[in-house]
Amino acid sequence: MRGRQYISVLDLTREETLEVLRVAQHLRLQRKAGIRRSDILRDRIWVMLFEKPSLRTRATFEVAVRELGGHTFFLGPNEVGLGKREPVKDVARNLARWVDGIFARVFDHGVFETFRRYAPSLSVINALSDLEHPMQALADFQTMLEETGGDLGFHLVFIGDGNNVANSLMLMSALLGSDFTIACPPGYEPPEDVVKRAKEVASKTGSRIHITHDPVEAVSFADFIYTDVWASMGQEHEAEERKKAFARYQVNSQLLRHAPEHAKVMHCLPAHRGEEISDEVIESERSLVFEQAENRLHTVKAMLIMLS
Ligand code: CP
Ligand code: NVA
Repeated sequence: MRGRQYISVLDLTREETLEVLRVAQHLRLQRKAGIRRSDILRDRIWVMLFEKPSLRTRATFEVAVRELGGHTFFLGPNEVGLGKREPVKDVARNLARWVDGIFARVFDHGVFETFRRYAPSLSVINALSDLEHPMQALADFQTMLEETGGDLGFHLVFIGDGNNVANSLMLMSALLGSDFTIACPPGYEPPEDVVKRAKEVASKTGSRIHITHDPVEAVSFADFIYTDVWASMGQEHEAEERKKAFARYQVNSQLLRHAPEHAKVMHCLPAHRGEEISDEVIESERSLVFEQAENRLHTVKAMLIMLS
């Protein structure tokens, strides 16, 4: 799969995605047994090109590359100025002369189309864009599969904004055959083309994709309840307006009273406690947030192995 790209969840087939998840689970068990190192990425160099802040995505990538025997270096917004200091196509053609892969966190998902066109020999992984966060979805599916003992027949319910994380979770549910519901305020649904694509894929796998504005109805049939910030990076100026629109959509103890007892709570982090999730719930035994964070490491390692 060298030179392949993982920009959208749908860049891998169902079988390839399941293989990444199997490798990730193997790596998790190996690491628990104290086995961390290999030289699969020996002499490979990946650049991290980030336009936005990050803890989990950056740290897990750096640890992953080191443990796999490769090298990585970081270029932040002040160094590169994608499309500002120089055109994205020039950035792509420069990097293509030096490195084997680009791990990029960008505002505009369209940047990846330029990478595809001008650096076709490079592996490219989407580390979050305005449209998708596929590496997060992989870690979340690993987490849910651990909980269900490998059964994909669960119902994932997302409460909140139809954002990058919601889009990738919806697409991965469709691809792998799990049911997905999003409960969001009117006007904050996932983009129509993403929903259409998810439903097309779901029609082949048996997954059901549902959009509602009623969080109580949505959690009543959830196995997993997921939420994310109401204003994503780059939308800070909309934060106040969004707080009003999303007020009914907080994942808290009151909402969880309507959920099955076994339903677990998830969040990609960072969380705004007191907004999309209450402190009590995120700190409760139902919360899987640090399992998800751990699995960011195993899944990104597995993806690097697949792409190497
Ligand atoms: N969940 C996630 O992507 O976290 P960071 O923004 O800290 O990388
Ligand atoms: N939706 C959030 C996810 C952060 C990991 C954002 O884009 O800011």
